[in-house]
Amino acid sequence: MKTKLMILCGLACVAALAAACGGGTNGGKANGGTKAPVVLRKAVPADFKDKTNPTPDAKAEGEKLFKAQCVSCHGDNGDGDSPTGKALKPVAADLTAAGFQDAVKDDYIFWRITTGAAGGPEGSGMTAFNTLSEEQRWQIVAYVRSLKK
Ligand code: HEC
Repeated sequence: MKTKLMILCGLACVAALAAACGGGTNGGKANGGTKAPVVLRKAVPADFKDKTNPTPDAKAEGEKLFKAQCVSCHGDNGDGDSPTGKALKPVAADLTAAGFQDAVKDDYIFWRITTGAAGGPEGSGMTAFNTLSEEQRWQIVAYVRSLKK
């Protein structure tokens, strides 16, 4: 009887742990700010998970790319404040928000830039930038990291 109880308890603990770790969500506090809707972020897929930035200091190169590719939706400052970005549903994310910056690792940002709407919430208008080289996408990640308020 005791053994059975212990086994049951063990199973329950494993299930609880899996629930606590699973999903890659951040408890619904996506985007931190007030402009963006609450988004449960999806988990980073296996082929992107735990990738790290080979060019973490390439902020200047990343800034040029960001100004050319991202500001139309995410705004000049990356905070989502652009007419196009605000007209989208969901709105373009505030990339300066601590609620975003603290919730994700570089692998998430690199994945989202690469696959765009495919990794986003329903109806996302985020562009996929798989035509940029990997190096360029990592340079953008370095710049996005510098945007944290
Ligand atoms: C055509 C508009 C558009 C362009 C261009 C665009 N984005 Fe987005 N982006 C969005 C929208 C809308 C969202 C919010 C929905 C989502 O997460 O997919 C978003 C979300 C994101 C997210 C996820 C934020 C979060 O809170 O999880 C990142 C990171 C991001 N964009 C980075 C970029 C970068 C970097 C560029 C330029 C290389 C870029 N975006 C270009 C529209 C755009």
